[in-house]
Amino acid sequence: GRKRKSEEMAPIGVIGGSGLYQLKGLSDLVPTVVETPWGQPSDPYMTGSLGGVPVVFLSRHGSGHRYLPGEVNYRANIAGFVALGVKRILSVSAVGSLREDIVPGDMVVIDQFIDGTRGRPSTFYGQGAVGHTAFAHPICPDLAQTLIGACRTAGVRHHVKGTYYCMEGPAFSTQAESFLYRQFGAHVIGMTNVTEARLAREAGLCYATLALSTDFDCWHPDHDAVTVSEVLAVISKNVENANRILEHALSSVRSQPSCSCQEAPRHALITHRDMIPP
Ligand code: ADE
Repeated sequence: GRKRKSEEMAPIGVIGGSGLYQLKGLSDLVPTVVETPWGQPSDPYMTGSLGGVPVVFLSRHGSGHRYLPGEVNYRANIAGFVALGVKRILSVSAVGSLREDIVPGDMVVIDQFIDGTRGRPSTFYGQGAVGHTAFAHPICPDLAQTLIGACRTAGVRHHVKGTYYCMEGPAFSTQAESFLYRQFGAHVIGMTNVTEARLAREAGLCYATLALSTDFDCWHPDHDAVTVSEVLAVISKNVENANRILEHALSSVRSQPSCSCQEAPRHALITHRDMIPP
């Protein structure tokens, strides 16, 4: 039964991006401030439960949207989840579409990334702790399946895979860049998720992305430029769908993962001392 499940299960982490500053349906909410060796996470974590499943929610940009994509302390955010016993993270993020068939409002369950970020801290290694983490398959296949099943159950239009180009931002792309990312084979574009995914893998956590398409970026002949107001309007129209998908995902997640994400740190070819525990 559900009660037993929650007693056995490590809490599931949920990271909400722009427009998803809280998770509806969470009960027994307790704000939890966590200090980490990497500094302060974006916000207090909200611990609670949904349908009997223990959940820890974090707003990526903080309440009131205080941090740019390049300013988010991703290491502290992931380390804070680890400190709270989280082993699996679901991320929800707004993205631009680089494909005609991914229309605003569509969900994309990401399976690959291309990293175009510039110089943001994106590893737990360094300062004498040398490790190289396998990242060929950056998304937890088990959690991705859970998200796909949840999209289906919720009856929301979705794509079962997709490559996320992660740009540095905060400005949107030039049109030449947008054309280039399409030629790279990317399907959607955002500014945050590859950094989170890499740190989660280094820490041995499962991570999957539910991407909400909000605009056609600037490559599309009928859509000249992205505007924040357009992005926010599509988010608020679809935040209900994102919430429903998350509820289905949380109620159907396996009590134990069947993947090998947690083995990643052991295979990271550490040639020196351990990384600072996240
Ligand atoms: N997030 C939402 N839309 C985006 C776009 N077009 N480019 C980068 N990040 C986005």
